[in-house]
Amino acid sequence: MKRILGIETSCDETGLAVVSEGRVICAERVASQVAVHAPFGGVVPELASRHHVENIVYLTRHVLDESGDNVEAVAATVGPGLMGSLLVGVNFGKAFAYARGIPFIPVHHIEGHIFASFLQHPKNPPDPPDYPFLALVVSGGHTCLIACPEPHRYQLLGTTRDDAVGECFDKVARLLGLPYPGGPAIQRAAEQGDPKRFSFPRSMKVGDSLEFSYSGLKTAVLYAKRDLGEDAMTSDIVADMAASFQEAAVDILVSKTKLALAQTGMERLVVAGGVAANRLLRERLQEELTCRVFVPALSLCMDNGTMIAAAAYSRWVHGYEGGLRETADSTLRLY
Ligand code: KG4
Ligand code: ZN
Repeated sequence: MKRILGIETSCDETGLAVVSEGRVICAERVASQVAVHAPFGGVVPELASRHHVENIVYLTRHVLDESGDNVEAVAATVGPGLMGSLLVGVNFGKAFAYARGIPFIPVHHIEGHIFASFLQHPKNPPDPPDYPFLALVVSGGHTCLIACPEPHRYQLLGTTRDDAVGECFDKVARLLGLPYPGGPAIQRAAEQGDPKRFSFPRSMKVGDSLEFSYSGLKTAVLYAKRDLGEDAMTSDIVADMAASFQEAAVDILVSKTKLALAQTGMERLVVAGGVAANRLLRERLQEELTCRVFVPALSLCMDNGTMIAAAAYSRWVHGYEGGLRETADSTLRLY
C-alpha cells in the first residue's frame, strides 16, 4: 500500500493529508485562514505565508499520528500560487523527504484539483474517472476547459481572456457588500433572490469559441448598482443581483462545457476547483449533460492536501519522479 503525505500551501489554506493508493483518505487536516484575511477583503500574501509556517508542523503531526506514520513519499504543490506560500510547503516537503530518505513528488495545483475526483468519498462516484476526459477547471485563478487524453497529458481547449470565474465571484461579492470569500457569500445571497430580475451579459456565449470572458459581467453588475443608486441597494435587491449574476456566470460555464463535449466527442467530464462547490453549477451540469459527470465531494473542492497526494500517486505510478532540486514556480504551466 503506497501512502503519500500531500501538502498544499499555494494560497491561504494549509492542507495536509495522508492518502493510500491515490484513493483512500487515511487522514486529512486543513487550517483555513479565512478569518485572517476577511478583514482585508482578500488574501494578504505575507500573512498567508506566515500562517503556513505556524500551521504546517502541527498539521503534519496530526495526519501522521492519525494514519500510523508510514508514508513512503511526500508531495507538495509547487505552483502556481503565491510564491511565499508555495515556498513554505515545498521546502517543508523536501526537508521531510530528505530526513526520511523518501521521494519528493512535485504537483501542479490544477492537476491536484482534477485528482480530487479520483478520491474515495461517500459523495464521489464509486469509480475514479477513466481516460480520456474533459476537465472544467474553475477556481480563483483559473477558468479553463482541458482535454485529458491520458494520465498527465493536458491540452488546453479554452481559457479566460481576463478574470477567472472565482475571481469574478469574489469581486462581485465585494461590489455587493458581501463578505469574503465571495463565492459562498454570493451563493447564500442568491438563494433568496430572483435570477431573472437583472439581465446580465453572457460574454462570448455565441459562436464556437471555447474562450471565456468574465470582466464584462463584473462591469455589468457595477453599472446596474450605479444606475440604481446606493440607497436602492436593499438586501432584496442585493439578493436579486447575486442570483442574476450567479445565473449568468454559471450559464456561460455550462454552455461552453456542452460545446467542448460536442467538439471533442468526450464522454466524461471532471469538474475541478473551488467554484465546483457552487450548487447551481453542480445541479445544472448533472441535469443537462448526458455524459458522466465527476464533481468532487464539497469538502474536496477547496484547496486541500488529499488532492495533492492523489495526483502525486498517479505521477509516481506513471514513472514521474521529482527530487530535491524541485522548487516553487508561481506561474507554473500545466499544458
Ligand atoms: O480552488 P480554490 O479553493 O483556490 C484557487 O485555487 O483559486 O478556489 C477558490 C475560489 C474563490 O474564488 C471562491 O470564491 C470560489 O472558489 N468559490 C465559489 C464557491 N465556493 C468557493 N464560487 C462560487 N460558489 C461557491 N459555492
Ligand atoms: Zn485551488
